[in-house]
Amino acid sequence: MNRRLQAIENMIRPGIGMIDVGTDHGYLPVSLALHGYPGALFAADIGQGPLSAARRSAEAAGLENRIVFQLCDGLSLCDPDSVDTIVIAGMGGDTICGILDRAEWCMNPRYQLILQPMTRAEVLRYWLVNNEFIIEDERLVADGEEIYAVLSARYGGAMRLTDAELYTGAFSMLEQEPLWPAFLAKQLVRFRKLLRGLRQSGREPGRLQLAERIEQELEKERAKHANGTGNL
Ligand SMILES: C[S@@+](CC[C@H](N)C(=O)[O-])C[C@H]1O[C@@H](n2cnc3c(N)ncnc32)[C@H](O)[C@@H]1O
Repeated sequence: MNRRLQAIENMIRPGIGMIDVGTDHGYLPVSLALHGYPGALFAADIGQGPLSAARRSAEAAGLENRIVFQLCDGLSLCDPDSVDTIVIAGMGGDTICGILDRAEWCMNPRYQLILQPMTRAEVLRYWLVNNEFIIEDERLVADGEEIYAVLSARYGGAMRLTDAELYTGAFSMLEQEPLWPAFLAKQLVRFRKLLRGLRQSGREPGRLQLAERIEQELEKERAKHANGTGNL
């Protein structure tokens, strides 16, 4: 298990059941079983190859009868009564939104959603707040050169995020994270590059204005945490 998957596992609470959507190698359900997770464990993947790999991981650990394997798109084979934790990790934010969109039953406060977008996290946060989910917790984890966000969300409530927070997560939730200054610095580099491109092309004044506003918001937040973080 890499640090990213470890961070995801750390956010899972003991419960009646967990499904890992897009399980690939199956490391997460296998690790949960080895660590004594009490509920049912489901490993789902749309690809036959990844699901076979997950099965092999379980067999290698002698756990092939402990985990239920599902070859399917998203949550389409998941019995809503069998789980209270849904993990969707290692995919693009837009793919995660599509999977949730096709499983309306997870719009229920009984489910904890643990979501880890590799790209387009802003699309996922936008989808969540616009569909009455609360992002209850968000953590940052470094793996290699990248810093990933892991979100824990639950249906039922109103939450507001600023334009910049759609890209980073809620500032108030992340300020205590040791990786927050480094994550902000990365986001600033990304926005400054985007701004340069938009200014040069001069073709999208609306997008330019939005990007400028976000850059200012990020810079203000960075300045608050500047002590000891070095120059950007
Ligand atoms: C990069 S792997 C991530 C593996 C693991 N979840 C992780 O975070 O390390 C993405 C996996 O998601 C699967 N996948 C992509 N779209 C899916 C969908 N709609 N439903 C189920 N699995 C999907 C792919 O087949 C692949 O095995």
